[in-house]
Amino acid sequence: MCGIVGYVGNKACQDVILGSLERLEYRGYDSSGIASIDNDQLVLRRAVGKLSELKAKTQLEPVSGRIGIGHIRWATHGGVTEKNAHPHLVNGEVAIVHNGIIENYADLKKELIEKDFLFNSDTDSEVLAHLFARAFNEGLEPVAALRTVLKKIEGAFAFAAISKSHPETLLVARNASPLAIGFSDEMAIVASDATAMAHLTSRVTYLKDNDYAVITAKNCDIFDGNNELAKREIVQVKAAPILLDKAGFRHYMEKEIHEQPDAISHTISAMTDVSGNLTAGLDSSSLSQIKQIVLVAAGTSFYAAQIGRYWIERLAGIPVVCEIASEYHYRNPAVNGYTTAIVISQSGESIDSLMAMRHAKILGLETLGIVNVADSSIAREADRILPTRAGPEIGVASTKAFTAQLVVLICLAIALGKNNGRLDSSRANHLFQNLLKIPGAIGKSMKLFDQIRPIAHRLKNARSCLFLGRDVLFPLACEGALKLKELSYIHAEGFASGEMKHGPIALVEDGLPIVSFVSEDEMARKAVSNLKEAEARGGYIIVVGTQTAVDMIDFAVEKIIIPNCEPILAPIVGAIPVQILAYLTAFEKGTDIDQPRNLAKSVTVE
Ligand code: F6R
Repeated sequence: MCGIVGYVGNKACQDVILGSLERLEYRGYDSSGIASIDNDQLVLRRAVGKLSELKAKTQLEPVSGRIGIGHIRWATHGGVTEKNAHPHLVNGEVAIVHNGIIENYADLKKELIEKDFLFNSDTDSEVLAHLFARAFNEGLEPVAALRTVLKKIEGAFAFAAISKSHPETLLVARNASPLAIGFSDEMAIVASDATAMAHLTSRVTYLKDNDYAVITAKNCDIFDGNNELAKREIVQVKAAPILLDKAGFRHYMEKEIHEQPDAISHTISAMTDVSGNLTAGLDSSSLSQIKQIVLVAAGTSFYAAQIGRYWIERLAGIPVVCEIASEYHYRNPAVNGYTTAIVISQSGESIDSLMAMRHAKILGLETLGIVNVADSSIAREADRILPTRAGPEIGVASTKAFTAQLVVLICLAIALGKNNGRLDSSRANHLFQNLLKIPGAIGKSMKLFDQIRPIAHRLKNARSCLFLGRDVLFPLACEGALKLKELSYIHAEGFASGEMKHGPIALVEDGLPIVSFVSEDEMARKAVSNLKEAEARGGYIIVVGTQTAVDMIDFAVEKIIIPNCEPILAPIVGAIPVQILAYLTAFEKGTDIDQPRNLAKSVTVE
């Protein structure tokens, strides 16, 4: 993924670029770097680890040029080392920063090495620096140099380059990876998203795929993929200020768990009309056009999609399939009868989900985005948006965005069911009234921190953990396993309770933690039998459910009681103990909760 920044203007670039990189840290935190043209010299500072390492370095050895580029890395090609950190410099002449993957880099590297170019890193990105150096050595002007480089490279990229031979000029381009350009008097800034420039300007333009631009402090020429000068609209972006304040919590994740009553209330409001009636943001004719749905997403958003499928099929009788975004556009999906692709993404920038959405468009489907970041790529490109109003989510592990996604999906399911007559008004109203009680139930669930702490204390020594659920609680079990593994690095898997006997039960041995979500509905008795089988083989049984539900599992060692709620809405309330269990286990283990190893908040590489 990575985040890139470029600045040219009347200020010293160091603080501006570091400020932007701080806002891009959600995209990666393996290493970072900055390059500038200072007193006619290209200077470079790079550091492995979080941005604080680069800040410390630049404090000791500041960079004072008025043009510069910066990068925050999530390693793809090449290990997490200083030599692989960006910017990449060639001969003290050219520096580049890159987000994405140059897919034909191996061929290009071979070709360049044969012509005696010396490589210093193991990255795909360094070929860009060499290609620019070669173009400038041949005497090409910036636009021609850009065109020459772009003709050579394939893949997904957003990059920025500076050259000593053109010390007033930023050269940038994008294909598939996002790039925004911000303007104000006397300066221009480019970055992977508009939030990264919120400290300087709100006047922003977004490059389209295959666009490239030559930018000085006072001028910006944008060209499209046909090498024609392109006019791109400048929009006013209300970028949220960076939330550095943890409001007294130890971690953003802890804060974001506590923000869920608000996130859910705000999202419910976005799903209702001015009179408070549930519309899911769509009028009757739009709802009627939705005949079959494909829900596409990645990671936690995918588990939201799977819960959404149960809801939409049950309440509206509309066929739904769920697709992992990274698979969708490569497997030639058959779409006969499908009318609508709904892409679910917190960031709105996951490249897998964006590419899947573009593929759905090519297949002729209407696209709906359930997106948290309003000015993200998916939000801009989808035919329609059903917004989640969770507010900025900074912790890498998704929490409040997940429950907000669930709220949009249940609202959509109710609205579809009511519109097509599958749900009568009184049942639809009953469900909606119960949904309105969820923020309160989640507020009460914050007490679970105390109840779960001793369980997390025991779980921290586990090598493996299973999560089980039936029906709407099955995808929640998968989400529980994902949260635990990403935060505490404990191996965890989620299974449908009924699947245990078909294989996974072989894993059960003395003391294996098994977290099981149980409901009060007709599924309850079956879940009890499945758990009994695991308990008989030595499993350490932890049950999560309402008091009535957990009372049925009298043999459980641990009981996590969630507030009462309508059974179909249980995944929303049940998400809170999932998050708290993962958070507290990670806390006990001392892992980096807001920025777990190897992860990034926004995944913009395939
Ligand atoms: C897990 C998590 C990830 C994301 C996934 C998709 O806690 O946050 O699995 O859900 O990378 O991201 P978005 O929703 O931004 O497309």
